[in-house]
Amino acid sequence: MVMSKRMRVAAIDTSTDMLAICVAELDGAGAAVPAVRVLASGDHLCRRHANVELIGSLDAALAAAGLALGDIDAVLVGRGPGSFTGVRIGISTAKGLARGAMVPLAGVSTLDATAWRAWCAGARGLVAVAADAMRGEVYPALYRIEDAGVTRLFEREQVVKAADAAAAWAARPDAEELQLTGDGLVRYGKLFHEAGLMEHALERDLWWPTGEGIVRAAAAAGGPAALGDGDPALVLPIYTRLSDAEENERKRLGLAESPSAQATGVADELAGRHLQYRPLGAADAEAAAALEAACFAGAAHTPWTAAQFLEELSPAAAVPRSWWVAHDDGELIGIAGGMIVDCDVQILDVAVAPARRRAGIARRLLAHVSYDAQMLGCTTASLEVEAGNEPARRLYAALGFTEAGVRRNYYGPGADAVVMTAPLPLVLPVDAASPEPTAAVRRAWPQPAPARTPDEQAELARRRPVLAIESSCDETAVAIIDAEGRLLANKVSTQIDFHARFGGVVPEIASRKHVEVIVGVVDEALEEAATTLGMTGGALAPAELAAVGVTQGPGLVGALVVGVAFAKGLAYGAAKPLITVNHLEGHLFANLLAQPDLKPPFIFTLVSGGHTMLVHVRAWGDYEVLGETLDDAVGEAFDKVAKALGLGYPGGPVISRLAEEGDPQAIAFPRAMMHSHDYRFSLSGLKTAVVTYIEQETAAGRTIHLPDLAASFEAAVFDVQFKKAWDALKQTGAREYCLGGGVAANPHLRQMLVDKLGRRGVRVTLPPRDACTDNAAMIAEVARRKFAEGDFSDFSVDADPNMTL
Ligand code: KG4
Ligand code: ZN
Repeated sequence: MVMSKRMRVAAIDTSTDMLAICVAELDGAGAAVPAVRVLASGDHLCRRHANVELIGSLDAALAAAGLALGDIDAVLVGRGPGSFTGVRIGISTAKGLARGAMVPLAGVSTLDATAWRAWCAGARGLVAVAADAMRGEVYPALYRIEDAGVTRLFEREQVVKAADAAAAWAARPDAEELQLTGDGLVRYGKLFHEAGLMEHALERDLWWPTGEGIVRAAAAAGGPAALGDGDPALVLPIYTRLSDAEENERKRLGLAESPSAQATGVADELAGRHLQYRPLGAADAEAAAALEAACFAGAAHTPWTAAQFLEELSPAAAVPRSWWVAHDDGELIGIAGGMIVDCDVQILDVAVAPARRRAGIARRLLAHVSYDAQMLGCTTASLEVEAGNEPARRLYAALGFTEAGVRRNYYGPGADAVVMTAPLPLVLPVDAASPEPTAAVRRAWPQPAPARTPDEQAELARRRPVLAIESSCDETAVAIIDAEGRLLANKVSTQIDFHARFGGVVPEIASRKHVEVIVGVVDEALEEAATTLGMTGGALAPAELAAVGVTQGPGLVGALVVGVAFAKGLAYGAAKPLITVNHLEGHLFANLLAQPDLKPPFIFTLVSGGHTMLVHVRAWGDYEVLGETLDDAVGEAFDKVAKALGLGYPGGPVISRLAEEGDPQAIAFPRAMMHSHDYRFSLSGLKTAVVTYIEQETAAGRTIHLPDLAASFEAAVFDVQFKKAWDALKQTGAREYCLGGGVAANPHLRQMLVDKLGRRGVRVTLPPRDACTDNAAMIAEVARRKFAEGDFSDFSVDADPNMTL
């Protein structure tokens, strides 16, 4: 498509230590490649400070160009590859900016931008970019640069050992002509020097991308409209590999025993009580073959054998594979797999137990396989399906597969195979709980501003809706609340499927997922708010919000920065104030969702996956932390015990369900620090006691009664919680008590506190159960109050993983 009119763009890239910023005008009149006129640049080196400086630097560049963000027609962003956190900050901010200002977002490769940076400086000839990938690796990229522009001499971004890149380039017949650049030369210059490649390296100040480089790379592609649909939901980082955590786990699961590692031998009864998806493991091979035989008896497709599945898992497999299985009640009910050839994932097999079909299991399995493939650089998927298999063809068509050809008699005489291909990401059903990037949201973007009647506008002005984002751990959550505290929307996208396979949250994966789903969750919240308000003119627009709130900390730093960067972009893009919220205060304020008249002073117990504290709330904002845990948090203890039992992640809900039918007095577990006469807690000893008990019973050949074990464990934890809470109430004279954090969802803890403290004349407030585990409603409640007080944050705020109350 040729860009016809002039457009103004803002370009950012934070994939490297260069904070690259440019405001430019593109003029597409008559030419395939729009002309570029730079209006202002803000490039400067800024090590690990991008989240602090980005919006301020953009604001300064816009001002220098005599513009405001509202004058910008599109946002451009560098998609890496580069520093993982750096790429995420740039992309998250850009998504927020584009969503907030309701303009298109387009992404380009940061390597291309680095090559264009060289073009701008007058370099011509063969240019080799070695971008720093840390840990001894670089992203290598070769370009031919001429006056007319920059041409890629490689197919896709990849990551290789710096030494291998040096060796490969040195071995080229044209090695003499190579001009090296890229920030990888800072760290690995010596390697390239030893390979004889540094003589013709470009000047050091050209080794980083610039904002102009981003703009020119985008212009060369034909302008923003030629780079995609412009939908900020669909712009993702350029991935070159799975994270180390995923890679290691893939190897471990592929080779070792059952993935639900059964420490006790008693876990089978529980292994995946509910539907679970996880990578195929060696222990699944027999069951997978049996499923195949059942599914494909009499079909043209030859069922896979157990030996073939094992071969797929072998580290010797020539090309990368991705195989996923679905389990329910310990039974394997579905399998799908593919192999990666160049940039295509060839789907080798999809099978779901006949009784479990039409429940979305095949889609989910394919989603996991195609997601892995995307992470490994695939851009398309392909498969063969029997021409006569109508249900399968319909399923694939719904996922975005189209027919690319027919293989006559492929499955034997008269049985043709239809070849189908699809672009990645696949078209997956959109729901907030699906963490895979999906193309189903494909929509016209930018959306038109919603049409509102004067009454509706007045209503919005009165309601002053505040949108809040929570991304501190493994939930991407967005809520919208009005000035009076009524929730207009409350959405959460959980990553539990992804983390369950590791038995806990993997920070690297958590932050990656936040980037992928954040726009989708915000969109859903904006739609839900319009519905709640009875407004028919379309989803709320960011400009109709009163403010944007976000969790600043504590939590996983890589997860927090995504929410904070996005929120800053959204607020700046929509010209609204930014409000930062302490996650722990959020857990406290969740109580106000149940009891709006809750007033200090009172005692507050916070029990979550990361925290255990007893707090004297003297006034709102005046917190005296009476004591904390010395080691594990309460939720963490639940998770560790569940893991030891092979019950999966998270542990709290499984253990509390088991405890339902158990006897809390069956096993006498220690009540650590019960009589320490202070408010400190310790949980690691209890966890050890439980594990020791399991080992002893197993060694003695006795069956462990899981419900009794769960109930006794809970009782040991909760007795101490009650004792110290009651001591604190007596000591401070407070007559009110409240609870918060994921463990506050536990029905036994709730009941026990209501009973025992109620009997002693204390008013007990509990958050709604769904507001206990991480959610954005509680963050919105804090943000709404800060908004009323005009307590806004500067755009230079950064995530703070170590915040406390
Ligand atoms: O507050 P939260 O969602 O995240 C943090 O801020 O840490 O808490 C998560 C923790 C997990 O450890 C989970 O096992 C625990 O809350 N949890 C429970 C229950 N539901 C969640 N613990 C006990 N009983 C439950 N029903
Ligand atoms: Zn929490």
